[in-house]
Amino acid sequence: MLGSKTVLVVGTGTIGEPLIGLLCNFKAQLGIDEVLFHKRTPLLTDRSKVQNLLRRGARLVTDKDRVEGFEKMGLKIEHTTEEALEMARVVVDCTPSGNAMKERWYQKYEESTDLFIAQGSEFGFGKQYARGINDEVLELGKDKYLQVVSCNTHNLSTLIKIFGLGNEGPQNLREGRFLCMRRTNDISQDNNYVPSPQVGTHSDEKFGTHHARDAWHLYNTKGPEYDLNLFSSSMKLNTQLMHVIQYNLKVEKPTTRDELIARVEADDRIATTFKTTANAVFSFGRDHGFCGRILNQSVIPLDTLHVSADGRDITGFCFTPQDGNSLLSSVAATVWGLYPETYDKIVQCLKPYFFSEV
Ligand SMILES: NC(=O)c1ccc[n+]([C@@H]2O[C@H](COP(=O)([O-])OP(=O)(O)OC[C@H]3O[C@@H](n4cnc5c(N)ncnc54)[C@H](OP(=O)(O)O)[C@@H]3O)[C@@H](O)[C@H]2O)c1
Repeated sequence: MLGSKTVLVVGTGTIGEPLIGLLCNFKAQLGIDEVLFHKRTPLLTDRSKVQNLLRRGARLVTDKDRVEGFEKMGLKIEHTTEEALEMARVVVDCTPSGNAMKERWYQKYEESTDLFIAQGSEFGFGKQYARGINDEVLELGKDKYLQVVSCNTHNLSTLIKIFGLGNEGPQNLREGRFLCMRRTNDISQDNNYVPSPQVGTHSDEKFGTHHARDAWHLYNTKGPEYDLNLFSSSMKLNTQLMHVIQYNLKVEKPTTRDELIARVEADDRIATTFKTTANAVFSFGRDHGFCGRILNQSVIPLDTLHVSADGRDITGFCFTPQDGNSLLSSVAATVWGLYPETYDKIVQCLKPYFFSEV
């Protein structure tokens, strides 16, 4: 579709708020004409963030029946939801209700909108996507709906690619096992804090939890030969800072620690670190990232990497930059929707926020 390159972000929470900021700050470099954002609830506690996003150049959108509520708070509504959906070339849903939004709204605007993107919780929304894992499967004109996989799924998928598949391909990975130790809630969130470690159930019969299931689906978009043997478990820790994953990959072709370190160091999506605590890694992001976020897929403390004597069993820990990796894939997918031929070059403007070492 031709016309103004308008992007609508729906939701202003943990993912939506920094995404709107990122799109506004890099609007010119990303080739975006207009950034619109939809906020559902007029809340005085959220007024400051909305005001600041408006100051940075984004325009506020809400449902018809909410306009008055925002105006009473002194916030100018630029468009109703219907108008914004009509104008947008790309819609990035950053709510935990992307599938419901698809049914309620997005399906009606498929003619006028090129691409709808939803986030990690919205399994089934569209083709799974993570930048650097399956870019080659994006099909212009066919993929109207994409799901950017969750932050831990980004991390798992990167470990699978670098350690499990290497140069050999899917047959090299005998199995991948992952324990996702999740932070209790985000520092921006007041609810759902757990006061002590809380173990999770294995609700998925085949994959354990959604993390391995989603990574399987992400790789399977590359072809039926990507039928990977994956399993994950998850638990929550009583910290708000970062997710940590313990991984164990069994491979066909023997490898060495030095070979794996060389692969990690050659990949700009992975940061290495000598730090061993989540607060030290998180704090680096706060000082050097975009709004406190580093955009790497994974942060690997190389000292924790272990390879068995026969070279076929790889174990270690890594940190998940929890919203940074989803943000980068959301930006990459958005720019793909606007400039499918050159999007990967265009998103290099965010390179200052990928780090080789933290
Ligand atoms: N949090 C993370 O670290 C993280 C990382 C990667 C991926 N994700 C994924 O990102 C998505 C959003 O998560 P989040 O943590 O950013 O959520 P969040 O902080 O709870 O924010 C949710 C936002 O969605 C809006 N919203 C919720 N339901 C809506 C509806 N039916 N219609 C319109 N707006 C609605 C809320 O609007 P109001 O407040 O105005 O009502 C709020 O702005 C999920 O799919 C999640 O899996 C999250």
